[in-house]
Amino acid sequence: MRTPLACLLACLAALGAPADELVDRVVNHARAHPEGDAPASFRASDYRGDLRDLPIGVFDSGVGGLTVLEAIKAHDRHDNRTGAEGPDGIPDFQGERFIYLGDQANMPYGNYAAAGRTDFLRELILRDAVFLLGRRHLHGEKPPVKAVVIACNTATAYGLEDLRAAFKAWGLPVILVGVVEAGAKGLQETAKGAQGGVAVMATVGTCASEAYPRAISKVTDRPVRQLGSATLAAAIEGDPSVKASVRDIIRADVGDFLKAAAASAPDRPFDTVVLGCTHYPLVAEEIHAAFAHWRDHRASDGSRPYERLVAPTLRQVDPAAWTAEALWRSLQGANLMATKPSSAGDLFYLSVPNPAWPGVGLAADGSLSYEYKYGRQPSQVGREDTLNVPMTPEKLPGATAKLVREKLPLTWRSLQSAR
Ligand code: DGL
Repeated sequence: MRTPLACLLACLAALGAPADELVDRVVNHARAHPEGDAPASFRASDYRGDLRDLPIGVFDSGVGGLTVLEAIKAHDRHDNRTGAEGPDGIPDFQGERFIYLGDQANMPYGNYAAAGRTDFLRELILRDAVFLLGRRHLHGEKPPVKAVVIACNTATAYGLEDLRAAFKAWGLPVILVGVVEAGAKGLQETAKGAQGGVAVMATVGTCASEAYPRAISKVTDRPVRQLGSATLAAAIEGDPSVKASVRDIIRADVGDFLKAAAASAPDRPFDTVVLGCTHYPLVAEEIHAAFAHWRDHRASDGSRPYERLVAPTLRQVDPAAWTAEALWRSLQGANLMATKPSSAGDLFYLSVPNPAWPGVGLAADGSLSYEYKYGRQPSQVGREDTLNVPMTPEKLPGATAKLVREKLPLTWRSLQSAR
């Protein structure tokens, strides 16, 4: 039988309560540098005044989170004068300024869990948020932020509760929004009678965390099955180490997913796919096509083994759009929308390896080597083996720049004027 203490600890764990050493270490490190003049720290006094005209911070493990920034910039679900529900032709965040961080040097975040380095990932996530809160970057100063949007599904899965605890410990009135809870809310609000199975496509790490099934079970009892891909996000970013094409990876992943689902004989077909990774909205059509392909697929005996598993109409839920709405509701609720349109442009940052850091392991192309990246342990909160530098279109790999240019026009325009 469980002792009362064991029950309490189990309850705290189930709530994701992160009152632990790792969060404390980051909290104390920042507290020890209240002027924000050390790595991984921020100026405490920045958060004592009126925050309304500060920018909104958005971070991801890489550039995939730009899909979330685009969704926020394009969001128009309210009348900007009254706040009433209903688009007015003016983006809801029109007057706001954004600061984006892509921790590209340390990605994929989706692989830390499989490498047994979840705690290191949690430290990275806390440091990403502290970067947004602070003023330091490699080549100068940036403004602090009034909100932090975790655009990364994996980072939300492993870091949202830690960040909540850290913000509380610091007494920060800063809004915090994570993409997973917003995605579950989106699933609920767009269901419109859909009661079939829900397929959540995400990284292997996000799937291992069970964050989506947990969040979805709070809003619906529809069956959920996860499809974790180890290579799709990297392939979408044009990672040269992934040889298969995006289309082939999706087709194979969806095929494996349906094969496994068929073996467990689900009672309802899948009628909804949650795009639970930042990169997947960029290939939404290919994902749709893959499900349609397998639905119509004929086996050698002429049967269609997956027909009953995939509903004829398949909806997609893009958590990015719902993150925008969650952000809007939080800022409105806290009376933190900008009081005047920002005259300054958005700012973008990207992490790069720091070859001068003692013991850093680099691959031939200058990126962190796999062994080094996934071999690190938490504890050095102020480590600077990677540095955050301004992101410009020229710093993006060719394939990524093309995707952003073609699929994320508002972000591309803003990125072009950022320096
Ligand atoms: N941004 C990550 C996510 O949404 C995908 C890329 C990665 O694994 O870092 O889960």
